[in-house]
Amino acid sequence: MADADLAATVHHSGGSYPVVAGWGVIDQLGEKLVELGVKSPAYIITDENVMRPYGRAAQLSLQRSGIAAHCFIIPPGEPSKSFQLAQHIYEWLVGLKAERGQGIIAVGGGVVGDLAGFVASTFLRGVPFIQVPTSMAAMVDASIGGKVAVNLPQAKNLVGAFYQPQAVLADVKALSTLGKRELSEGWAEAIKHGLILDADLLDLFEEHAEALMAVEPEISTEVIRRSMAIKAGVVSQDERETLGIRILLNYGHTIGHALESSTDYGRFMHGEGVSIGMMGAARMAQQMGMIPQELVDRQRAILQRFNLPTKASGVSVEQIRQAMSLDKKVQSGTNRWVMLEDVGQAVVRQDVPWELVEATLAELID
Ligand SMILES: NC(=O)c1ccc[n+]([C@@H]2O[C@H](COP(=O)([O-])OP(=O)(O)OC[C@H]3O[C@@H](n4cnc5c(N)ncnc54)[C@H](O)[C@@H]3O)[C@@H](O)[C@H]2O)c1
Repeated sequence: MADADLAATVHHSGGSYPVVAGWGVIDQLGEKLVELGVKSPAYIITDENVMRPYGRAAQLSLQRSGIAAHCFIIPPGEPSKSFQLAQHIYEWLVGLKAERGQGIIAVGGGVVGDLAGFVASTFLRGVPFIQVPTSMAAMVDASIGGKVAVNLPQAKNLVGAFYQPQAVLADVKALSTLGKRELSEGWAEAIKHGLILDADLLDLFEEHAEALMAVEPEISTEVIRRSMAIKAGVVSQDERETLGIRILLNYGHTIGHALESSTDYGRFMHGEGVSIGMMGAARMAQQMGMIPQELVDRQRAILQRFNLPTKASGVSVEQIRQAMSLDKKVQSGTNRWVMLEDVGQAVVRQDVPWELVEATLAELID
């Protein structure tokens, strides 16, 4: 694996791991696992959409390196992040006489990664885990930082752990099979990384928006690497979300999550909610004198170039309010807002007047 493919190294209390991104690198997965000392056989967990071509490519690469690989294929979608499916995977692993030292490899989006990681963290009290993210959300966000989970009927991600992978290997070429809407919503999270922590990354988005929407290899790989490096840097500094750094990644998420949950997760894709949420946070920052109107306009323009929504229509402001009061960033009854002070510079504020939140929601929602 070329050193140039290394996007970042995550440091955590138990060691460190490489975050690699390159065009076509899935074909080198086997070599990487040999380097890591992962034993044969390995257990690939993937979903029905991703098995072909990516699960299969991963399996063939392992075989070329002398590692046999079994595949467990889950139905795609959020309902698969369940205890029931985890239980099926445990039983499958037991049936195959899986041992400690043999790795679980997640090949897929965030659902596969979170579920496979949850199984890896608990089976035999923990087996080696490797992330091969194939969706944008999984590449720039979910695969890095060790949060693994399953959902309960009451809420998402209620049961989980911090369990770090041994490596993250992203084949950027996989983005070319995402639908246009999935691609746009994925770029929203990466644009967010630029807005909160990397002004140069935002410049790259502005210079290359069309090429990125067309997933041109060179620029897409560079931008994914930089975006992964931001997430890797944040989680290295604040592994367990206790130091107030990891929360910066939640820019746009207070209103974004409320939009998603108040519409039962059926209306907005995650990145679309975040896009609208970032516009809300920017408007409030402008009203509080933290940023000029030009920055609000600049943010809107870049989101629109990636076909992302900057307003919402046909949703209930009352339901959004209620969902916001349940937000996990609420502390002592006040929402903690991630806001910009400049491009690449985000802070957490707890002093946003409720009237300003109300006025902002009224503006954002037709
Ligand atoms: N652990 C974390 O830190 C973290 C962070 C963010 C999100 N998440 C979790 O991640 C999940 C969302 O991730 P997601 O958006 O990847 O969802 P997902 O895993 O459901 O993937 C979205 C869809 O894209 C398909 N897909 C994946 N890669 C593809 C490709 N290359 N080409 C074509 N189709 C492809 C999948 O089959 C699925 O249908 C949620 O469960 C969320 O809670 C976790």
